[in-house]
Amino acid sequence: MIALTQAERMTTEQYIHHYTPTKIDGDFVGKHVVTVEQFARPDMEVLFQAAYTLRKRIHAGDRSVLDLCAGKVMATLFFEASTRTDMSFQAAMLRLGGEVIATSGGVQFSSVYKGENLPDTIRAVACYADAIVLRHPEVGSSYQAAYYLDQLAERLGHQSVVISGGDGVGEHPTQALLDLFTILDYKDSLDHLQVTMVGDLRYGRTVHSLSKLIAIYGATHISLNFVSPDALQMPTNVVKFLNESGIQVNQTSELNEVIGESDVIYWTRIQQERFANPADYDAIADHFIMTPSVLAGAKDEAILMHPLPRKHEMGTPADHDVLDNDARSVYFNQMENGMFVRMALLAKVLGVREI
Ligand code: NCD
Repeated sequence: MIALTQAERMTTEQYIHHYTPTKIDGDFVGKHVVTVEQFARPDMEVLFQAAYTLRKRIHAGDRSVLDLCAGKVMATLFFEASTRTDMSFQAAMLRLGGEVIATSGGVQFSSVYKGENLPDTIRAVACYADAIVLRHPEVGSSYQAAYYLDQLAERLGHQSVVISGGDGVGEHPTQALLDLFTILDYKDSLDHLQVTMVGDLRYGRTVHSLSKLIAIYGATHISLNFVSPDALQMPTNVVKFLNESGIQVNQTSELNEVIGESDVIYWTRIQQERFANPADYDAIADHFIMTPSVLAGAKDEAILMHPLPRKHEMGTPADHDVLDNDARSVYFNQMENGMFVRMALLAKVLGVREI
């Protein structure tokens, strides 16, 4: 019988404490991306500048960007459903001139179906790809992947990086990067802003990462409003992180108290798939529905964001039509920005130093 190493005996979530991802610290090359805590403001500024440049060039139809990652391969490993994260990463890599691989038919046709575990799967993929985008239902999965990839790199002599595409109810670092990029696109600075996040703040990984990223980016006189039913409040570890960063946090279940003052309104879906008990979901599902009449209470200069997909929390299809035509709704721009920010990130971790 083979003795398990300490790492193999740990739960996936324990890797968060066991594995410390390297800070970006001005150099993205060869670094895994598993948490927003790896980024400092100058790293975000470099990344966003690259994303702006790439956006400009792509919009201008400049095909010269297409060879930045020529010869590189990105693999996608999605153990949870995805449209935007998966496809924007794929499109990003293709638009950088790189190649994309995945198991034919998705992970359900990989050896995971035969019972292979994540460390073995990730090491197999690392033999074939330079970057792996991983979405997995367990918190800490990207840390676990990074831990095993570092060990494998010592054996193989070359490093593949893992980029988290969301780890369960934990973090979604690249979504936070594109969200902050979008906020800065419209607001120039975070100073003096009121940012209001609404909905399922407990299970929504996008808001966990975004609020921490905002705190790391830093701003003077910014305030964060967290609006949710009591049962779906922002996790205490995130609130603690914000408090320690000197960010003022206002937690409430009354949207009316804050919507009229908000500069950024970040709406979220209630994460039905995360509820163990369907009755708990039913009791909460109809809280906080964004409709044209709710948006009427917001400032003219406010922006309305949503990571998407949206369900009934953005009202009926008729409501969608009205919201989509409101100048304050920027969620489609946000969605498109995902590709540019992911292009910038991929290019940087794969060794492109000048964009
Ligand atoms: C989000 C996610 O998967 O966490 N979607 C996304 O990546 N754009 C939000 C959600 O599923 O509600």
